[in-house]
Amino acid sequence: MTSREIRQSFLDFFRERGHRIVPSAPVVPLDDPTLLFTNAGMNQFKDVFLNTGSRDYTRAADTQKCIRVSGKHNDLEEVGRDTYHHTFFEMLGNWSFGDYYKKEAIAWAWELLTGVWGLPKDRLYATVYTTDDEAFEYWKTETDIDHSHILRFDEKTNFWEMGDVGPCGPCSEIHIDMTPDKSGAGLVNADRPEVMEIWNLVFIQYSRDESGELHALPKRHIDTGMGFERICAVLQGKTSNYDTDIFRPLIRRIEELSGRAYEGAENEIAMRVIADHARMLTFAITDGAVPSNEGRGYVLRRILRRASRFGRNLGMREPFLFKIVEAVVARMGDVFPEIAGKRETVENIIRAEEESFNATLDRGLEIFEHVVARVKQDGSNRISGAEAFKLYDTYGFPLDLTTLMARERGLEVDESEFEKHMSAQKTRSRNASKSKFTLSITGKDRDIELELAPGASATAFTGYDALEAEAKIIGLRQEDGKAYVVVDQTPFYVESGGQVSDTGVIEAEGHTLPVSGVARTQGTIIHLVPETDVDLHLSEVVRLQVDAERRKAIMRNHSATHLLHSALRAVLGSHVQQAGSLVEARRLRFDFSHYDKLTDAQIRDIEALVNEKIREAIPRTHLRDLPFEEARKMGALMFFGDKYGDRVNVVQFGDFSLEFCGGTHVANTAEIGLFKIVSESSIASGTRRIEAVTGTGVEEYIRTLHDDLVEARTESEALQARIHELEKELARLSLEKEKERLSRIITGAPTVRGVRFVAAKVRVNSHDALKALGDVLREKLRTGVGILASEIDGKIGLVCVVTDDLIESKKWNAGNIVGAIAKDLGGGGGGRPHLATAGAKDLSRLDEVLEHAREYLPRD
Ligand code: ALA
Repeated sequence: MTSREIRQSFLDFFRERGHRIVPSAPVVPLDDPTLLFTNAGMNQFKDVFLNTGSRDYTRAADTQKCIRVSGKHNDLEEVGRDTYHHTFFEMLGNWSFGDYYKKEAIAWAWELLTGVWGLPKDRLYATVYTTDDEAFEYWKTETDIDHSHILRFDEKTNFWEMGDVGPCGPCSEIHIDMTPDKSGAGLVNADRPEVMEIWNLVFIQYSRDESGELHALPKRHIDTGMGFERICAVLQGKTSNYDTDIFRPLIRRIEELSGRAYEGAENEIAMRVIADHARMLTFAITDGAVPSNEGRGYVLRRILRRASRFGRNLGMREPFLFKIVEAVVARMGDVFPEIAGKRETVENIIRAEEESFNATLDRGLEIFEHVVARVKQDGSNRISGAEAFKLYDTYGFPLDLTTLMARERGLEVDESEFEKHMSAQKTRSRNASKSKFTLSITGKDRDIELELAPGASATAFTGYDALEAEAKIIGLRQEDGKAYVVVDQTPFYVESGGQVSDTGVIEAEGHTLPVSGVARTQGTIIHLVPETDVDLHLSEVVRLQVDAERRKAIMRNHSATHLLHSALRAVLGSHVQQAGSLVEARRLRFDFSHYDKLTDAQIRDIEALVNEKIREAIPRTHLRDLPFEEARKMGALMFFGDKYGDRVNVVQFGDFSLEFCGGTHVANTAEIGLFKIVSESSIASGTRRIEAVTGTGVEEYIRTLHDDLVEARTESEALQARIHELEKELARLSLEKEKERLSRIITGAPTVRGVRFVAAKVRVNSHDALKALGDVLREKLRTGVGILASEIDGKIGLVCVVTDDLIESKKWNAGNIVGAIAKDLGGGGGGRPHLATAGAKDLSRLDEVLEHAREYLPRD
């Protein structure tokens, strides 16, 4: 079975047993401050377990994107060194919310593993919590497991808790023995790859509070989690998760990039680390995390640096991790379309971070070598905490990296001294009047230190209602003619949720300074003034003004994006989920999950529906600072790539559109003016992209179309004229050719009744040309009668000429002759005695008539 089939058969199994299949929650938790990353499938149901929320179903199943790197379930050091731990993994899970309990959970797990997937029963072990006789009995009565394979363990392994606080309960795990001779009984829970936990069934019945006390929950629930990568390895007969079809393409990509083979312990470990970490970074960044110096961002930074360092073991010194994102997207983008939508962003962020790490690493490695040399010289085997801290603080070496590198040299690091330095630094920076920020105005992070006024707090954002504000400078740095300005309130919107940052000006002491970008960090908004020769001062009052025209265009596009989202769901179906968006002044871009190319009719319908809603002039409702749960209950659409805080904003346009959104919007849909889709394309399997324009953008679009049209018309007229010219030229040339032929025809012409007589077929394409040829013939003949016929436009053209001497002596008349011939060919004509033309239809008889043309000469 392929991994795709395995995932599907799990979901199908539980769907058939009444479970609602739900989407994975983002790996960056939406609304849970106790969690750095989503670490289990049950996270999104925590409120149900704690009885603070509910769902309209009591059974659910899914595959959940999980990250475990820190906190309670910390596997980081193992990852890559062994073959079955990951920082990022998928957890297949099924849940009962006060519905079925231990009996069904155990029976179904057994049925799926042994009945559907056919795992050998004598290789499976079930563990239960020491005192859980109930579960022990169910394993005996509900399954045909070997009773000696049911083992009891204590809370270390068999009491599952989400974190230090939250839902928890005894659990029952299923382990598989992969030893060749089935000798693994003693290796259950021994942290050995040969005997591995594959599925955990948790019987949630308590909640642990801050003081560590357990409280019984009003209802009892089932929460299970199966390691997807592990079960794939088992079912695909592999001893390593990295040999499954989930990881092989990534390992191959790393082989390609490094030019080395996945062989030998050192290469294998490095490649596993990189493959694992590339997945983790792709998913975490897609869901809104970014590498930084604290919290979640710091975890990402550590992971990236760990991967980067292992890359060096493979000889890769230039940024390479960002090149693996594509392979991750190719492998998983169909199941998780959000990663396809964010691919470029993820690549850019990883690449920038790799570049900056490489620079510090090179310098740091040199310092590290000096330190090692000195330590060895001193006959010691220990790097001091102070030195480790310097490596960390100045050169970006996380402690685990220094420890790891030290270990490779047979040295250790004084970690407790390091921690002392670390906390001293934290206190220092808390008290310091200067604050360090990471600015990412140009897309590339840059650390910057700002002087903050004493007691300065966060910047208030006033830009939902106003585009101007008077504000006090509370933070400032000026250097090289640039200024970084923090004020107490600002109308400038900072890029977020796809909407780009505002630009505008700051007016200070009669000077107008441009603001080319803004960035937010820790609640503070920094304005970048790219050039100034004015000295600004802390506490000075300035006036901020957003470029209103640009911002209004952005708002039109942002509101149109919401209307488009609803229209897509109305026209294509509710499977449409936002996978990403970009809202600029000139255009908007919306990525979403959908499997087929949109038809022209669908695009027309979507466009028409959006424009209808624009014409309905629906006023906007902006609900601000709503508790997250309340907004979710209202049914607001959310974008799983975004992170949401405890309190959220919701933007609503009548009953047509309701979305979580922190962005800025028009007050009424009518302001959008008009909406036009300009392109529809695929960006990854299962993900489509629409680009569209609104308002002035449509005006510009129409203007361009019109200009193109005018240009095309002018071009076409010129082309027509040229065709005409060429046709004339062609006619002239063929006439020349026919004239030359005439001389030969005349030479070979017979004499009929004492008169030279020409009757021939020629090829011209107009009656004028035929007549002209007649003139030439008449001239060349000097004395005689000539008849020329040509096919012209599918009919017959005829000309007859008689030289003057014959008109005079014999009274012959070209008009009569040609008239008679034409009549026999189903036509008519005439003219003057010396030259006459006629037209006729019966092409089929032309040759025959011409052959006997002499019979048309009048009898004397
Ligand atoms: N929540 C349980 C776990 O993560 C299933 O193991």
